[in-house]
Amino acid sequence: MNKIISLSLKNIDGFVSAEEVMALAQKSAIQLEKLNNKTGLGNDFLGWLSLPEDIESQFDDIEKCAKHLRKVSEATVVIGIGGSYLGAKAVIEALSNSIPTAKRDHEIYFAGHTLSEDYLADLLEVLDKKEFSIVVISKSGTTTEPAIAFRVLKRFLENKVGEKEAANRIVAITDEKKGALRGLANGKGYKTFVIPDNIGGRFSVLTPVGLLPIALCGFDIRALVKGAKDMEAMTRFNKDANSNMALQYAAARNLLLGIGKTTEIFVCFTPKLHYMAEWWKQLYGESEGKEGKGIFPAGVDFTTDLHSMGQYIQEGQRIIFETFLSVTKPSKKVVIPMETDDADQLNYLAGRRVTEVNHNAETGTILAHKDGGVPVIRIEIPELSPYYLGQLIYFYEIACGISGYILDVNPFNQPGVEAYKKNMFALLNKPGYEEANKKIMERLK
Ligand code: PA5
Repeated sequence: MNKIISLSLKNIDGFVSAEEVMALAQKSAIQLEKLNNKTGLGNDFLGWLSLPEDIESQFDDIEKCAKHLRKVSEATVVIGIGGSYLGAKAVIEALSNSIPTAKRDHEIYFAGHTLSEDYLADLLEVLDKKEFSIVVISKSGTTTEPAIAFRVLKRFLENKVGEKEAANRIVAITDEKKGALRGLANGKGYKTFVIPDNIGGRFSVLTPVGLLPIALCGFDIRALVKGAKDMEAMTRFNKDANSNMALQYAAARNLLLGIGKTTEIFVCFTPKLHYMAEWWKQLYGESEGKEGKGIFPAGVDFTTDLHSMGQYIQEGQRIIFETFLSVTKPSKKVVIPMETDDADQLNYLAGRRVTEVNHNAETGTILAHKDGGVPVIRIEIPELSPYYLGQLIYFYEIACGISGYILDVNPFNQPGVEAYKKNMFALLNKPGYEEANKKIMERLK
């Protein structure tokens, strides 16, 4: 039996009690039941629950496509925003060399997640010297940011290698029937994968949305999904709060919200997990932040940010709790050397691994923050491998569904995301927005 990721709530004691957590966790088994019976809010977006089984039939096709793109190009640009890129980016960064300029098996660039002209121009400069392919991802097929990036990059690739070869190097991941991207892909004969109707963007990392870019980088998507499957077996139908860490995490964070801890900070101790925090922020922020409710999800990288945000967390407004994501075993080894003159006075650490210092910094921080009024939840992952990342992903997703139902919101919609788009389209005078354009121009006078 593989090890599992684990959850510790001992450092929220003194803020909320273990008994309170277990009582709410047990009560929340009803929310789990609503997810499984599809009787809760947003019940047409629950396809992610059974993805670990459902996606297996697509492994061969995804791996074949990754192999093809690796054969015809040295680099791939993954175009997408929000749920259409963060999951892939999180897993790839967690498994890759920490140094961005280090040689990678296959180079991956991201685009369409920003409207920065400089970013696109810089990317084009880099791609000019490379054989590259494109994976464009948009469930709706109409999102402005990736659509603009795709138009620019597609033209660039077509000019470079010709229309026919460009079509051989472009893969689209989108809705089965709807959206501009689907029409374009069908028209040009691109290879496509489908994002199922019943899976929202932020829950789509275990579909081709995440799996194709991850496979492109040479990482084992079967092990990733196996990890998710094992976590599904431990949580999805497990109504016993004592052994279901998803119920416990969902209950703990909602109880902390109840005592005024309105901000949850995701804390990691390796830059490799920076984008896991970004993915988690979207998952929880978009799922829970509505109807004036929700915990504000933030992220920090320690010990880096202990020298910037550490002061606020230790002594600022007492509205924070933290969730530490700690990795037991590093992938590589660095031992601190002995120096005969001990000029830097570090010989007391000579012969010890850097991770030993990091783990002690972590324990010291937990105690300091707890003393300062910041409760700390701790999640431990044995190592950064596809298998454990798969466990982690499913854990966070199912806990998010439970937690959203505890809050009594629909965790699977995101109506608030439309507000900025409407204004932007009005400002840009998009066809159909003529009246809105007049109104918004008046407002800006
Ligand atoms: O979680 C979500 O649904 C969103 O973050 C979307 O993923 C994001 O807005 C991108 O949408 P699309 O994939 O339709 O381009």
